[in-house]
Amino acid sequence: MVLVGASGAGKSTWAAARFRADEVVSSDALRGVVGSGPHDLDASADAFDLLERIVAARLGRGLTTVVDTLGLDDTRRTAWLGAAHAAGLPAVAVLFDTPPDLCRARNRERDRPVPAQVITGQLRKAATIATMLDHEGWDAVHRLTDAGRAAESAPQRTVGSTTRSTEERRSSQGLRFVLQVGRFPWGEDPTAWLTGIATAADQAGFAGLALMDHLIQIPQVGRAWEPIPEPWVTLGLLAGLDTRLELGTLVTPVTFRPPGITAKAAATLDALTGGRAFVGVGAGWWAREHAAYGVPFPPAPERLDALADAIETMRALWAPGTKAAGGLPETTSYPRPAHDIPIVVGGSGERTLRIGARLADAVNVRTELVDRAITAVRGTDVKVTVLDLPTIGRDRDDTWARVERLRGGTKASSYAERTHAGTATQQRDRYGALAERGVDTVFVAIADLESADDVDRIAPIVT
Ligand code: CTP
Ligand code: MG
Repeated sequence: MVLVGASGAGKSTWAAARFRADEVVSSDALRGVVGSGPHDLDASADAFDLLERIVAARLGRGLTTVVDTLGLDDTRRTAWLGAAHAAGLPAVAVLFDTPPDLCRARNRERDRPVPAQVITGQLRKAATIATMLDHEGWDAVHRLTDAGRAAESAPQRTVGSTTRSTEERRSSQGLRFVLQVGRFPWGEDPTAWLTGIATAADQAGFAGLALMDHLIQIPQVGRAWEPIPEPWVTLGLLAGLDTRLELGTLVTPVTFRPPGITAKAAATLDALTGGRAFVGVGAGWWAREHAAYGVPFPPAPERLDALADAIETMRALWAPGTKAAGGLPETTSYPRPAHDIPIVVGGSGERTLRIGARLADAVNVRTELVDRAITAVRGTDVKVTVLDLPTIGRDRDDTWARVERLRGGTKASSYAERTHAGTATQQRDRYGALAERGVDTVFVAIADLESADDVDRIAPIVT
């Protein structure tokens, strides 16, 4: 990102309000580093040398880089554009179209004002560049007329402050949000931890809470010796809390339990919660956990057959009356569920999606694969839900610190891109687009869910 504008236009102020200090490469600041201060013009050559090297090094790593100079030098400006593109990054110009009188007035207020005729020259040059920018090849050109005046203000939300319908919890964008919990850093007190998370999710306005169903913690999420509780037992604990959360799994592999047993657990949960249970089901994928627990793990086609059968068996057991149905000699299942328990089929394979579209209430895919799900359910009333794995920071610094902490061996820029790293406000833009495409529910899982505070941190996405 290259800033363009006369002295006093508000470039540095604007950048400071939006970017981390390390992301802004400023010729003035570098004059201060290699010279006597930000206005030491004798240090310009050294400062720009340094600036070019910093820009090149950052772009080489795919890092966001804001070049804070006057931006009026055509050669330098277009070279930065070329360097960004060479690094495979988008290049954005930000033109500060600040009223000349305002620039001059601000300049006069400064400790070391720039001579008036210098500002006039800059303003003139900036005006010519304004007409050239559109033809230079920028991926975007932003024109700001009252730069810096509107510092970004994220909508603030006090947890628990809203009264909302307990019937259907949808965000203002029309989405249901379900907190998906797959890591359990509960320390010495599992019950207190789970209670804290669920209570915070309820108060934040999440529509539900989903637990991952695995026998060993999966490598994508944590280490094998970290706790991964049996979900239906754990949901029993959550059922006893005073919340309105819908409770279920995302997802229960059909290989783990005969489907009738899952139906029994879900019907019990539904009865205990007054109709707040849902069941996520999938074909299962991880051979290791099956072997470790002595659970058969047939080949994929058989598991997919089992997935379709499981849905029919569960529905048969939940349906009113006792009769032969769904391949069962009788469907004697009490307690009865308190409502029609929704079934969500998780997985993005073609056949999985076909089964979901034919038999389930909703399908669930990773956000990146939402197109597949939309295509698969077209013409049905099966809902599209996504599993979203974002990095959500309180602000830009916090977001970046989280990326750095969570990225493991992945490049920071790749991790940030893959997890759509950003503030809750930025996530909302993305979710708005999903809502427009017809997504019904977003299951959100964050890698840094350590305590109820983390639920509060991401709460603004739910508003
Ligand atoms: N300023 C302001 N209100 C704004 C933006 C800037 O009062 N919305 C003030 C700043 O506090 C500063 C002056 O205007 O005192 C110039 O702003 P700055 O961001 O430093 O302008 P730059 O474009 O960065 O100027 P330069 O090219 O000289 O670095
Ligand atoms: Mg500046």
